[in-house]
Amino acid sequence: MTEVIIVKNQDDAGSIYAQRVAQLIGSKPDCVLGLATGSSPLAAYRQLAALVASDSIDVSKVRGFALDEYAGLDPNHPQSYKSTINRTVVEPLGLDPEKIHVPNGNLSTIAEAGHAYDKAIEEARGVDIQILGIGTDGHIGFNEPGSSLASGTRIKTLTEQTRIDNARFFDDDINQVPTHCITQGIGTILKARHLILLAFGSGKAEAIAETVEGGISSFCPASALQLHPHATVIVDEAAASRL
Ligand code: GLP
Repeated sequence: MTEVIIVKNQDDAGSIYAQRVAQLIGSKPDCVLGLATGSSPLAAYRQLAALVASDSIDVSKVRGFALDEYAGLDPNHPQSYKSTINRTVVEPLGLDPEKIHVPNGNLSTIAEAGHAYDKAIEEARGVDIQILGIGTDGHIGFNEPGSSLASGTRIKTLTEQTRIDNARFFDDDINQVPTHCITQGIGTILKARHLILLAFGSGKAEAIAETVEGGISSFCPASALQLHPHATVIVDEAAASRL
């Protein structure tokens, strides 16, 4: 059963996330956060950073695992997910960078990197709260339509639509957008104890309707949330408009 919360704006969604994470850190200082890139989680990270600062929350033991990374992109590239997570989460929250992991998109080791990443998550005893955005085609992480609902972390090809959507981060030039990625699988994501998916704007309305009310199918990877015992979807009215 998926819990749906309709909010006025991204800040309201962000404060729900921030309060749940702050509560988690209070009860489990070395908790494991599942982190996502994209624009949807940004307000949530900002709200959490504000709460951490105002309530002097000790985040020194917090651990984290990001969902995905582009393949073959230098981790120091400003649009790599390693750089993005550092800029949007690690630095504003003051997390220990050593405790925050991003899949390794280096092409020479990528074949084994997925299995190693899943093992590292398991050794950390799993993710407590996983934040998720959603692609316009229903993808989560970079699990594009057709991805196995039982998949683990692995290399994937990006669809043309996702490369078009993400060209805005690469000078609006699709040719600069990598063609492949490494992403946590849907099976990996479903192992997190609580999933919080955020979506805003009418462009996400169809994907949200499929996710919450459609049949569970690899054609809409996010519909796998219906299989999860504790999934929360937080949307604004525009993203909820097809529900
Ligand atoms: C990328 C990321 C996804 C994210 C999606 C949506 O494809 N790999 O994790 O959910 O973008 O991004 P946005 O939140 O900017 O719409």
